[in-house]
Amino acid sequence: MVTRAGAGAAVAATAVVALLSAALALYRPPLDAVLERAFSLRKVHSIKDMENTLQLVRNIIPPLSSTKHKGQDGRIGVVGGCQEYTGAPYFAAISALKVGADLSHVFCASAAAPVIKAYSPELIVHPVLFAEGGNEGPLSSNKTFRALSSDSPSAVDEVEKWLPRLHALVVGPGLGRDDVLLRNVQGILEASKARDIPVVIDADGLWLVAQQPALIQGYQKAVLTPNHMEFSRLYDAVLRGPVDSDDRHGSVLRLSQALGNVTVVQKGERDILSNGQQVLVCSQEGSSRRCGGQGDLLSGSLGVLVHWALLAGPEKTNGSSPLLVAAFGACSLTRQCNHQAFQKHGRSTTTSDMIAEVGAAFRKLFET
Ligand SMILES: *[C@@H]1O[C@H](CO)[C@@H](O)[C@H](O)[C@H]1NC(C)=O
Ligand SMILES: *[C@@H]1O[C@H](CO)[C@@H](O)[C@H](O)[C@H]1NC(C)=O
Repeated sequence: MVTRAGAGAAVAATAVVALLSAALALYRPPLDAVLERAFSLRKVHSIKDMENTLQLVRNIIPPLSSTKHKGQDGRIGVVGGCQEYTGAPYFAAISALKVGADLSHVFCASAAAPVIKAYSPELIVHPVLFAEGGNEGPLSSNKTFRALSSDSPSAVDEVEKWLPRLHALVVGPGLGRDDVLLRNVQGILEASKARDIPVVIDADGLWLVAQQPALIQGYQKAVLTPNHMEFSRLYDAVLRGPVDSDDRHGSVLRLSQALGNVTVVQKGERDILSNGQQVLVCSQEGSSRRCGGQGDLLSGSLGVLVHWALLAGPEKTNGSSPLLVAAFGACSLTRQCNHQAFQKHGRSTTTSDMIAEVGAAFRKLFET
């Protein structure tokens, strides 16, 4: 009996395996075809292709001209900054300016606003994102109290008022994970989508997206910039499984496709970029120094480049996705800043040193 049951189970198991293999065989060709198409573009590894892609970045950079008025080269908004984190939104916003935006706004929790203003007179700082347990004390205006007592819809209104004047938003630097604040950011993302404003999402903005992927599902003007941890979290949330660490290209491609071809930039030793169709690799020489804050330099400069790329259009990017070209430019620039800063400061290199290199790095990569 036991033997027959065992044999029966074995036969059943064999049948299941056969069925599974058949299903996999059916599934394999399209997936392979997609990966192959994507990998044929992996040739950007070579110096020549990297140079070609950099040329596309050069094509999207608007010429400096005395006939332009203030704001034409970019008005960027950074959504982030709370009581604990004030450096990240500052780094992102100042990087946007140094790359060439005309105006850089920060929309942050009120506790963060005076601190960010004190870092720089060059930023426009709006203390409109309310946080639970933030510093909205008894001296705050009635409006603040109204906002705190509800889901703070007025925070979304406050930012929405500015949206028609902004070309791109960078969402996430120094955001934190306060519930009220994240609900506001959700509203801001929805309002930006409704107005077709490009959004770069980083840091705790990605945490929000991992909780609710539907927020950006299929939004063609979104770019996500996860680090290793953030990528795993997103991948697990969207594809319900662990990342295959032997196949970074395929993983980035699959995540992008699962999100409806949203552009994904996985930061790492090499940056892997995909829009669900192409996979690009940015391996511009940086350094082995990894200080906190370089992700903010990337997201801030990407905000500007995304605006420029969309303005330039697909003729200037030779048929490649403008967002992918913008992302390649921002990754190259960040790595070049890292490289130059490291030449001068070695182990003591910090993000401020890298930001000081933006002008020279930009000239070297894009204006030679
Ligand atoms: C533009 O696309 C054409 C055709 O795909 C290719 O031959 C050429 O090298 C591309 N140019 C650049 C600068 O990438
Ligand atoms: C994403 O791109 C792939 C590859 O070109 C395509 O097969 C797929 O239909 C696209 N998905 C969406 C949602 O556009």
